[in-house]
Amino acid sequence: MTADVTTTLPPVPAGSGATGLAELQARDITAWFGDRKVLDRVSLTMPAGGITALIGPSGCGKSTFLRILNRMHELVPSAQLAGEVLLDGEDIYDPAKRLIDARRSIGMVFQKPNPFPAMSIRENVLAGLKLTGTKADRSTKDELVESCLRKGGLWTEVKDRLDAPGGGLSGGQQQRLCIARSLAIKPRVLLMDEPCSALDPTSTRVIEETMLELAQEVTIVIVTHNMQQAARVSSECAFFLAAHGQPGVIVEHGETRAMFENPQDQRTSDYVHGRFG
Ligand SMILES: Nc1ncnc2c1ncn2[C@@H]1O[C@H](COP(=O)(O)OP(=O)(O)O)[C@@H](O)[C@H]1O
Ligand SMILES: [Mg+2]
Repeated sequence: MTADVTTTLPPVPAGSGATGLAELQARDITAWFGDRKVLDRVSLTMPAGGITALIGPSGCGKSTFLRILNRMHELVPSAQLAGEVLLDGEDIYDPAKRLIDARRSIGMVFQKPNPFPAMSIRENVLAGLKLTGTKADRSTKDELVESCLRKGGLWTEVKDRLDAPGGGLSGGQQQRLCIARSLAIKPRVLLMDEPCSALDPTSTRVIEETMLELAQEVTIVIVTHNMQQAARVSSECAFFLAAHGQPGVIVEHGETRAMFENPQDQRTSDYVHGRFG
């Protein structure tokens, strides 16, 4: 697996390489699958450099909301959407904008680690370059592999076996490899959908530490069912809820500490204290 990563898409156009911390803002997001409305006018600002946790019971639309934030919702044939998503004030759904630009700027890590199992650790990290049409020479790639694996909290564990298959790593290592892979295309936002729910507590802590470090350079949005995790890592929290047969809404959002210590809505209080969900 030493094949060179080659360009399959036009090179990155000038002016689209914005860097620095970015705010993500969802405005009046309503989403449907077929006739079924699953989110109703959800608005949320996810501050630049913050870690925003999306919490709430299963089925209330958290994953759907997350997928809308990087234009993955539209991959579902029956899916529809209204509202706006602004990255640093620019609508990612603007018809003049390319899908690939949204995906490049807004990365995603899933619940189940999904490295390319037969690809080497090194090639896994570099895989996104090919998809986004980014060219790099060998030494640039070497530096990128090291810096992304360091940021992903995996470098010291894998630096002597970069050519070993990604599928040979433990679950927690695979998830950190997926984080490193996301970082290689220098996203401005990282979306994480229950990234630790398949992992043991030790791996979970390593990933949480990694997230806290990463927040210095990328805005993070994480879905979690683990209230301790939300309290440990997030700066802001949004509580989603769907009443029976109704679409999901945000009941309350704000600073994590306030949400946990002094929630304004009784339903938030009941949820964060584990009384339902
Ligand atoms: N691809 C899909 N097709 C149809 N309905 C879906 C699809 N994905 C999710 N849903 C429905 O949308 C609602 C919200 O789901 P989801 O966003 O996965 O919630 P959560 O992540 O909070 O558990 C649920 O009722 C779910 O059944
Ligand atoms: Mg979900």
